[in-house]
Amino acid sequence: MAKHHTVCLGDETFVAQSGQILLDAAIAGGVDIPHDCRAGRCGSCMTEVETGITLGGESKQRGTVFACQAHVFSDLKINVEALPPVDVVRARLSGLVDLTPDVVELAITPDTPFSYLPGQYCRFTFNGFPARCFSPTAALDGTASDGNFRLQIKRVRQGRISTNLGETIKTGHRLTIEGPFGHGFLRPGLDKRLVLVAGGTGFAPIWSVADAALRENPLRSLLIIVGVRKLSSFYMGQALDLASQLPNVEIIAMAEERQTAFHSVCFGVPQDHVPELSPDDVVYSAGSPVMVDKVGDMASAAGATFYSDPFESALSAEGDWLTRAITWLRVG
Ligand code: FES
Repeated sequence: MAKHHTVCLGDETFVAQSGQILLDAAIAGGVDIPHDCRAGRCGSCMTEVETGITLGGESKQRGTVFACQAHVFSDLKINVEALPPVDVVRARLSGLVDLTPDVVELAITPDTPFSYLPGQYCRFTFNGFPARCFSPTAALDGTASDGNFRLQIKRVRQGRISTNLGETIKTGHRLTIEGPFGHGFLRPGLDKRLVLVAGGTGFAPIWSVADAALRENPLRSLLIIVGVRKLSSFYMGQALDLASQLPNVEIIAMAEERQTAFHSVCFGVPQDHVPELSPDDVVYSAGSPVMVDKVGDMASAAGATFYSDPFESALSAEGDWLTRAITWLRVG
């Protein structure tokens, strides 16, 4: 077997050692493949392998791999989608509203215009706090974008950011935005059915995609499946109500809490309500990695196009206590 392989990306070429991680080889060769987590989680480095052999890092999108996980074992011809360039801007928190007792919506005003595609995410670093990734969304009441970012954030008991929202982090707080990242964005100009599956605040990127798709074509066929753990966390009613008024939009809403007060909210989890899919469907899923993974399996089995935005908890993204301890010991 050859020890070195040639990888072609458009009109650029680079060399990879046999078994080398594709992304590492691209970076070493000075070729840009978009990436972020480098751990197979974020999807930013999704790469189509047109010809050749790689091992590992297969995504649920047929014919594609995560370049940060795929090992090169032959000459390759690959393709990556053009994405907006990653940028860093300063910004300020310009609004903060509690949508439910455990979900808060932030408005963030960038100092300079900043573009991203509906469904992408960015890294937000509030002054004095660690960076966190959130997916900007569209207004729940359907008003057009005013250039501000809207974030919907779940308050979690030990969350370094969420417990400080409205306390240490108030309107006027300064922050940095880096991005955009991720491949779970709306591809414009297509007319296939969109199946959008969200759990909890995974609704943020899903509503961003739905809002943009319906602005592009209000007659588009769209199925939104959204679930929450507790009914008291159900903050998306206004948006769902708006979307449901369009002729080809179907909504399935649910809670993991049995209740009889709201007939339009059924019992269960989103992945249990995904209908039979076909190769003509384009499926997006955002929320817990378990849910996203199951929806991805269904899409993959049906041959549907699949894009995802799995929400890793900040702690799991930072590693468990042992990993963090080892890192600290190494640094020390
Ligand atoms: S950079 Fe490869 S999945 Fe995040």
